[in-house]
Amino acid sequence: MPSNVIKDRLLAVLPESLRPQAAQRLAAALPTLHRLLAGLYGERADFEIWLGNLMGSLGVLYAARPAALKALDAERAAQPDWFLSQQMLGYCTYVNNFGATLAGVREQIPYLEELGVRYLHLLPFLRTRAGENDGGFAVTSFDDVEPALGNNADLEALTAALRAARVSLCSDFILNHVADDHAWALAAKAGDVDARAMFHIFPDRSMPDQYEATLGQVFPQVAPGNFSQVDALGGWVWTTFYPYQWDLNYANPAVFAEMAQALLRLANRGVEVFRLDSTAFLWKRVGTNSMNQPEAHQLLQALRAIVDIVAPGVLLKAEAIVPTRELPAYLGSANAAECHIAYHSSLMAAGWVGLAEQNTEVLRAVIANTPALPPAATWLSYVRCHDDIGWNVLRAEAGEDSAARLARVARFFSGAEGSYARGAAFQSSDPHAAHGSNGMAAALTGLQSAGTDEERAVALQRMLLLHGLALSFGALPVLYMGDELAMENDDSYLQRPQHAMDSRWLQRPQFDRARWQQRHDAATPAGRMYLGLTALVKLRRAHPALAAHAPRTLLDDAPESVLALARGDNFRALMNFSAQPQTYALPGSWTDCLSGAILDGSITLAPYALHWLERGEQ
Ligand code: GLC
Repeated sequence: MPSNVIKDRLLAVLPESLRPQAAQRLAAALPTLHRLLAGLYGERADFEIWLGNLMGSLGVLYAARPAALKALDAERAAQPDWFLSQQMLGYCTYVNNFGATLAGVREQIPYLEELGVRYLHLLPFLRTRAGENDGGFAVTSFDDVEPALGNNADLEALTAALRAARVSLCSDFILNHVADDHAWALAAKAGDVDARAMFHIFPDRSMPDQYEATLGQVFPQVAPGNFSQVDALGGWVWTTFYPYQWDLNYANPAVFAEMAQALLRLANRGVEVFRLDSTAFLWKRVGTNSMNQPEAHQLLQALRAIVDIVAPGVLLKAEAIVPTRELPAYLGSANAAECHIAYHSSLMAAGWVGLAEQNTEVLRAVIANTPALPPAATWLSYVRCHDDIGWNVLRAEAGEDSAARLARVARFFSGAEGSYARGAAFQSSDPHAAHGSNGMAAALTGLQSAGTDEERAVALQRMLLLHGLALSFGALPVLYMGDELAMENDDSYLQRPQHAMDSRWLQRPQFDRARWQQRHDAATPAGRMYLGLTALVKLRRAHPALAAHAPRTLLDDAPESVLALARGDNFRALMNFSAQPQTYALPGSWTDCLSGAILDGSITLAPYALHWLERGEQ
């Protein structure tokens, strides 16, 4: 079908007033979309008909986009790098832990503004499966809010209120799998042929066994293997994560079309950023680990082209917890736009290795392996999140004996060998291999185990150091709820049989109102953390050299326990990962932005200290 016929399918459903703008966006993005989808599905006899129908559906969603969001689209089209500013700061939380409901989260907006937050990631809030649901990551309906958290009207009221406060709402979009009680799964169990085709279903073990030969495992202890036997399906279904999370089959174009529309319907409710969950797993291939396949990138690029046509103010964020070398592809290239943002899980994990080893070797290797990015794309930097710190992303950077080295780090954070940390090893059945570590930052940095004021002060310094790394790197930094108040581990999951095997629940506590009330009291750990962190946030806002896209150079003249980053010619971030003071020579005269001290020729960094320096005497 000639592309103007496909284009007209979209234009035909738009009111006259929207057509010139739509025609412009189609001229920019449709050739790419057509090429990508033809590459994925072009061999199907009905490909062009399918694509025409998809364009018609996209047109309906285009027309339905509310005026306020269309205005936002226009504003962002005029400044596509708006999210790279040093003014940007994210915050991530579960709805129930932070505000009980979506309406309760709305009441927390003044607190978010006080913190300087411009982006709020609410962990999954869509309708989830009855019973255990992996913290909401098993979605039953993409079109309804989880009833315990509110309804669609609450979601729209929240996004409007956040927009008015200049805070962008980020929602998970769990595109790799659905819950086993999603309508497609129920229909598949009832024998519906089209619904069965939405999943990877096998009558016996022959294909699963072939795949398993080269697949990894995400939850080797609680959910071993990648396939689950379901009697109602008469066979095995692909389940990368828990058995109740059924992987979608993106080789079927209906899956792509349905999911693209589901995303846009949420965008039309005011979601501005989508955290595309588990993007690495979207395409399966025998003989590989079925991660990071070229087709997974083509799918994401096609999704991006669709967003660029219908809702260009929306950002896509890749959650791909993969080795450093695999990460940049998720941010596309100058001629193939993909996601706008990607988690830098290697940087996050390497920061923790730095603390455990009091050495920046792995961190430096990660930074050296982090390439410059295309324009209007950035990393997401963070200290903790709701998941474990996965160590295996660092295998390449951790050197020859990386498995043993990372296993040592994991043992350190589980409190072994006299360490100050109070975390838990995650899913490691083999004591000689590393998988992940869990725990709140305050527990992993020694605040929870501290017995004296001095130990508490050192632990707080470690927490500020890691946050300083996230704020200094050149990324969109995202705080994890509770860390700003130095909240500790939540052991209550051990009492819940359905969670007791999954220690990620250690770092999913309820927002602590008592600590929140102490946040301006420097005599409390919560206050010291809060005041220290907000001082850094405030300072960062004033320094364009700390924007995501300002140039970054790793300086190799620092002692091995000090990470030294130049941000442009006139700004430096220095971080001491060791328990000993460290001296570092400086060329010329610098001003310490935090203390105002003038430094001539050198600086001595206290244990775990972070410094931001500006050239000259300010
Ligand atoms: C992502 C989420 C994680 C979840 C998994 C399966 O990795 O961050 O919490 O278990 O996807 O949806």
